[in-house]
Amino acid sequence: MGLHGSETQKFEERFAQFLGVKYAFAAANGTAALHLACEVIGLTPGDEVLCPALTFVASANAILYTGAKPVFVDVAGIQDLNLSVDDAAAKVSGRTRDNMVVHYGGHPIDMDGIAALAQRRGLKIIEDCAHAPGAVYQSAQGPRLAGTLGDVGCLSFFPT
Ligand SMILES: Cc1ncc(COP(=O)(O)O)c(C=O)c1O
Repeated sequence: MGLHGSETQKFEERFAQFLGVKYAFAAANGTAALHLACEVIGLTPGDEVLCPALTFVASANAILYTGAKPVFVDVAGIQDLNLSVDDAAAKVSGRTRDNMVVHYGGHPIDMDGIAALAQRRGLKIIEDCAHAPGAVYQSAQGPRLAGTLGDVGCLSFFPT
């Protein structure tokens, strides 16, 4: 049973169907969804979270709301403005808990590379899909929708 009215509950069910996931929850906006995701992951002060240097400020703010620290990761290059998996790997420390990835401009990031890094270093993955509702990533397992590839996916209907 949803926490909201019946229309929102229908929306949550249909959106979960669209993504092919078990659960979708409506929040006020993408920023609130990212904040909730950081809380669900269990971030606490002192934790570090990898975060792209090129994103909207909401990605970093959501991390800061929990008292954790965003550690900025450079872009992959001028042909790929998504976070560099190599730079992310270089910035993992003993306090890194999570990797916040953004599918910048609707272009899915190398999620197979991100997942391999997360598995090696025991990190959770939050996908900031504010730019990418409906974007398809060609994973090693076949095509998958952005928002279904990490531990939590956060989408937005802001026009970007
Ligand atoms: C990358 C990114 N993350 C999060 C957000 C926040 O989404 P919202 O405006 O729905 O709070 C935005 C909004 O532009 C964004 O561009």
